[in-house]
Amino acid sequence: MISTSNGCLLFPPLSFITLFILLICTPIACCNDDDDDQLYLTCNSTYNCGILKDISYPFWGNGRSQFCGHQGFELLCEEGQYSTMHIGGQKFQVLNISHSASTIMTIAPIGIWGQDACPEKFINVSLSQSLFTFAPSARNLYFFYGCPPQIDNMLVRTRINSTINGGLQDAYYVDESLLRINLPNLTKCSISISVPVNQMAFEELSSGNEALDIALNEGFDVQYTSVIMNCSACQNSGGRCGSNITSLEFLCLCPDQPYPRMCLKPDAISWQFHPS
Ligand SMILES: *[C@@H]1O[C@H](CO)[C@@H](O)[C@H](O)[C@H]1NC(C)=O
Ligand SMILES: *[C@@H]1O[C@H](CO)[C@@H](O)[C@H](O)[C@H]1NC(C)=O
Ligand SMILES: *[C@@H]1O[C@H](CO)[C@@H](O)[C@H](O)[C@H]1NC(C)=O
Ligand SMILES: *[C@@H]1O[C@H](CO)[C@@H](O)[C@H](O)[C@H]1NC(C)=O
Ligand SMILES: *[C@@H]1O[C@H](CO)[C@@H](O)[C@H](O)[C@H]1NC(C)=O
Ligand SMILES: *[C@@H]1O[C@H](CO)[C@@H](O)[C@H](O)[C@H]1NC(C)=O
Ligand SMILES: *[C@@H]1O[C@H](CO)[C@@H](O)[C@H](O)[C@H]1NC(C)=O
Repeated sequence: MISTSNGCLLFPPLSFITLFILLICTPIACCNDDDDDQLYLTCNSTYNCGILKDISYPFWGNGRSQFCGHQGFELLCEEGQYSTMHIGGQKFQVLNISHSASTIMTIAPIGIWGQDACPEKFINVSLSQSLFTFAPSARNLYFFYGCPPQIDNMLVRTRINSTINGGLQDAYYVDESLLRINLPNLTKCSISISVPVNQMAFEELSSGNEALDIALNEGFDVQYTSVIMNCSACQNSGGRCGSNITSLEFLCLCPDQPYPRMCLKPDAISWQFHPS
């Protein structure tokens, strides 16, 4: 990594060839950090948010500047608590951010469930943004409330108690495979919602090892691969990932200056250099 800032160029007059050899052969010791780009310096570190530790790009918020992250990844932090974030107008608790792959996080919607899997509000939980996709481990559960009594054996097993319009009415949940079977009475229920859960929680739920409210609180996995793809190219060129807070576009923060995609390689700099 060789800086192009002025502090690096205080060599005695030399021929272009000598200088070029010096530039590629000299160990990098010419620059101190004061010359480095301020955005690059600021976005140097990971940060902690609530009980989540060592978080990095694309996340920001709570002291980490937006230009060190990506729009749509603002975390709200509270001491000793899970972080929260908004996706498509819905608030989620962020239960885990994977460090290895850096493209998966586990989230659970907040403010949907009251007691015993009875919703406080009826909404379909979706990822209405191009930034996120459901991970392969996520699958939808479909909840039906205000239903006529069902005698279907499969549904009797997934019956839940719910209080709707003041009265106790039948409620059921089914997964995608059960939904595809014709269950005519479910169309007579007054309201339905879909909520993703993780495959593992669903299996525990189906086998009766786990209560419904626990399975729902475990959340589900989402991916943000497209954002990380841009970041990898930048990091491989020696940069740190960030964004332009005016245009919100991706920005590769490099020791000399920000670039749209990746840092200008040192050898490219030396070829362009003309000693005066
Ligand atoms: C990041 O930069 C700040 C300010 O320049 C400095 O205080 C901090 O020690 C640096 N952190 C790391 C991990 O380099
Ligand atoms: C978070 O995710 C990582 C990687 O997928 C996993 O190893 C770890 O056990 C998870 N932590 C929690 C608290 O679920
Ligand atoms: C959720 O989506 C389903 C299927 O698109 C729809 O029938 C249902 O009315 C939606 N529920 C709410 C509360 O919007
Ligand atoms: C469908 O609902 C009616 C009452 O509306 C009930 O008599 C009937 O047993 C239900 N059918 C099934 C398959 O659950
Ligand atoms: C639903 O409520 C009834 C009456 O309070 C109770 O007997 C039953 O065990 C409850 N079912 C579930 C699944 O909680
Ligand atoms: C990735 O970079 C391309 C080209 O710079 C840009 O068009 C695209 O919006 C970026 N994607 C994300 C998620 O930032
Ligand atoms: C950020 O975006 C604005 C508006 O598109 C542009 O004028 C500015 O040059 C960009 N800044 C950087 C550092 O790329």
